[in-house]
Amino acid sequence: MAVIRRLVISPPLMNSSSPWASEQNQLQELFDCSFTGGVTTRTATLTGFRETSEHIVALTNESISSVNSYGYSPHPLSTYIDYVDAILSTADASSTKPFIISITSSSPISLASMLDSVQRLRAKLRDGEGTTSRVGIELNTSCPNIKGSPPPAYHMTGLKPILDVLARYFREDPTLVIGLKLPPYVYATQFDELLQSIATYSRPDPSDESRRVSPFAFLTSTNTLGQTLFFAEQAVPLPGKAAASEEVATPTGFALPTVLGGMAGEALHPLALGNVYTLRRLLDTHEEFSLHDISIIGVGGVTTREAHARMRRAGASVVACATILVRNGVGIFEKLSIADDNRGSGHSGTDLTGLSSGA
Ligand SMILES: Cc1cc2nc3c(=O)[nH]c(=O)nc-3n(C[C@H](O)[C@H](O)[C@H](O)COP(=O)(O)O)c2cc1C
Repeated sequence: MAVIRRLVISPPLMNSSSPWASEQNQLQELFDCSFTGGVTTRTATLTGFRETSEHIVALTNESISSVNSYGYSPHPLSTYIDYVDAILSTADASSTKPFIISITSSSPISLASMLDSVQRLRAKLRDGEGTTSRVGIELNTSCPNIKGSPPPAYHMTGLKPILDVLARYFREDPTLVIGLKLPPYVYATQFDELLQSIATYSRPDPSDESRRVSPFAFLTSTNTLGQTLFFAEQAVPLPGKAAASEEVATPTGFALPTVLGGMAGEALHPLALGNVYTLRRLLDTHEEFSLHDISIIGVGGVTTREAHARMRRAGASVVACATILVRNGVGIFEKLSIADDNRGSGHSGTDLTGLSSGA
């Protein structure tokens, strides 16, 4: 079990945002699976993203990896609000299993309007009452596939106006659990700049003035690595598609019609582990003490139980996956499960020292 502020994720294993969490039936199946402790929705914008035949995913034949050219969900956020409302309203009354609604916007005005919708849903579900929440949000700051719009988490000046909005909503309602979906970082100062920026938002905790609190409860690391290229002969069909499907043989001779896209799966795993390890270490030692309480959802190349365990050892309190879900379906969560060590809260107890001893 992991507790991220008011979100109880038990077991601490879940899907990460992808088109396999796009429709109501997919979200219901993920929610009903007893091997997931929570469900993340596909990233939504305020009005929906125009999806074309250029937006696809290909699996690769040398490892369990993927490359995709998707942008965001064609459904607007309002559709996910309805889906989550429908699923939670009919869930077992004793269930605390949460949804993490993935959203994105580069416009502070649109983002505020999206947060208003989420807060209306939470008010309807009385999500701010008691000690647990069933709805959190994850701001996707890291999709590499949007033309002319770099992932804001690579550019702190672009990130700040949207973090300002999130921080304002948290101050108005500290029961709102907020996370950031990060891109893979590839050199040390990228992590430092992110944490420096995040640290400026911490304030005294209104419920206990002796403590400080960050508006950000968790960081999800990592999203796909952009600008990667696979040729058509390196791709295999998605399960259920014919061998000569368009996903494999695009007219370009590349795995993707866009040629370049975001890579994930096993090829990303070492970089994702390095990102989770570095974030955990920097959060734990940060001079702004409130950052010590930020949890990490570790994502990237978790395709086996061993990879899941590695992600936990690197510092993740919750582990999530996308590529293996695309390839194997929801049944994979049982195969990825490891004995839950019932860590009571957040990341405390993460065994970074075990990294060298192999414990
Ligand atoms: C086909 C596909 C679509 C994705 N779409 C999203 C998305 O809409 N929002 C998001 O935050 N991440 C998205 N991701 C990234 C995943 O959530 C995850 O961070 C990344 O794939 C690494 O995990 P993995 O190695 O288990 O696939 C997508 C990944 C894939 C493979």
